[in-house]
Amino acid sequence: MSEYESHEYDVVVIGAGGAGLRAAIEAARSGSKTAIICKSLLGKAHTVMAEGGAAAALGNADDRDGWKVHFKDTMKGGKYLNNWRMAQIHAQESADRIRELEQWGAVFDRTPAGLINQRNFGGHTYPRLAHVADSTGLEIIRTLQEKGIHSGIDIFMEYTVSHLLQDEDGTCTGCVAYNRVDGAMHAYSAKSTVLATGGITRCWSVCSGSWEYTGDGHALALNAGAELIDMEFVQFHPTGMVWPPSVRGILVTEGVRGEGGVLRNSEGKRFMFDNVPEMFKGDHAETEEEATEWVRQVVAGEKASVRRPPELLTRDVVAKAINKEVAEGRGSTHGGAYLDIANQRSAEEIIAKLPSMHHQFRELAGVDITKEPMEVGPTAHYVMGGVRVDAESQESTVNGLFAAGEVASGLHGANRLGGNSLSDLITFGKRAGEHAAKRADTLAQPGIEDAQVQSAITEMLAPLNREGGENPGLIYDEMRDMMQAKVGIIRTKEEMTEAMDDLAAFNERQAACFPGTSRKYNSGWHQALDLKNMVDVSTAATLAALTREESRGGHTRDDFPGEIEEWGKILNIIHMENGE
Ligand code: FUM
Repeated sequence: MSEYESHEYDVVVIGAGGAGLRAAIEAARSGSKTAIICKSLLGKAHTVMAEGGAAAALGNADDRDGWKVHFKDTMKGGKYLNNWRMAQIHAQESADRIRELEQWGAVFDRTPAGLINQRNFGGHTYPRLAHVADSTGLEIIRTLQEKGIHSGIDIFMEYTVSHLLQDEDGTCTGCVAYNRVDGAMHAYSAKSTVLATGGITRCWSVCSGSWEYTGDGHALALNAGAELIDMEFVQFHPTGMVWPPSVRGILVTEGVRGEGGVLRNSEGKRFMFDNVPEMFKGDHAETEEEATEWVRQVVAGEKASVRRPPELLTRDVVAKAINKEVAEGRGSTHGGAYLDIANQRSAEEIIAKLPSMHHQFRELAGVDITKEPMEVGPTAHYVMGGVRVDAESQESTVNGLFAAGEVASGLHGANRLGGNSLSDLITFGKRAGEHAAKRADTLAQPGIEDAQVQSAITEMLAPLNREGGENPGLIYDEMRDMMQAKVGIIRTKEEMTEAMDDLAAFNERQAACFPGTSRKYNSGWHQALDLKNMVDVSTAATLAALTREESRGGHTRDDFPGEIEEWGKILNIIHMENGE
């Protein structure tokens, strides 16, 4: 029998990014005894990688904007596979959530009239992204964190949740976690549990996510019997750093293009003019002169009267266009495209609007973006797929289990618009917290069933009790390379069938790996436990991608190019039965 510490809460929130913090604040505000359990230190979440802004139809930079235009843009960007009700709620409520953040102390950039300023981003008809230079996610996390720590929320930092607890009906009744610092085990009874664990992009070797992004929440939900949808839709953000190799994948904000940055190939050509899909024809400038005039109007603070540059097409389109330039031999020196802001904006403007990018390229790549172009290429940044939730409450198909933010699915359809993630987190984080608290209000505290906790602990300790085996780090690296090669931007049946076999083999290897014997800050042990989740979510993503025999949004099949009308009515739903 292993020892563990027990805890009781009305609401337990797993994850401390924007969605988790916002959910916890709302639950606590509703009177629930609330805890946040987070894998990393508070303040360190992928939310900070949404740099360019939070999309909300405030109409401050252009009063032609409104929730209906935001709704239309979101549905069009998602290739109409979105849950329309979530898109409506998001478009209608996100502006209030932004104003609320401002009241809680977020210091947004301002228009000359003193209103929250908004910038242009791909797929948004009007300048819509409330921003803090190019560190918006960071400012939102800072604001929510300060609000949260004064809201009476208990915080368990550097704890990883490994299992959900369920009663005989399958209702979620809490979770089991280990403390990364000392390896101690903890069991939580919760009337409502909210998953806010973010995404899965660490499963690809070129990604913008940090080490936490191993799909834990997706795997927890799947293993608890919840449904996942849209797992084939993975967003490769068009602009990650490509050089030097040590920083490959780190995000280069879309804000660079929103501020007028242009993409060129090795021949100096603005190739995006040749890559406007039929559905976006008419929305974008067709000549350099028109695109240049748009930048002039934006810089002058005028309402744009000409069409926006093709660099502001949606991310799926831009990423594939860069990929094509590289594949056809017109890539930049290190296999990307050139992103130039130096010739569009003054050095002063670049440093004021994009200070983090200026710093990042100077420090990490020795490039001065006020004088030289950046080299950029696609990086796995976001998964549109995740836990299927009720649009109003964010409750999953498992009673008592809620999900918000990237781990949930529905809002973005086949492709997410940049900036819609930060506003998703605060809109649906609030709703998840509110409904989790409402549910908790009606229930008695569930008991913690010792046998379930013991079985979870036995599974967690298994890698430490083996007598030798492969190091988990080797499996981790190989698996990520495999996903990058076989389930990347362009996919085929042949490669994905191989990937399914490879994943089955990785599953066997992870079940036999050996990370050493210590429970204290043993990152190899943590990685061994993460690997199981990574295999599960990679398998879900690959299976869904194999099944969808068309190309749509973030899912491109070389063997099935183009959208097929029938698939526009179909969602891939994945759930586990008897462990399969
Ligand atoms: O490019 C960016 O700043 C990322 C924003 C987002 O993913 O929403």
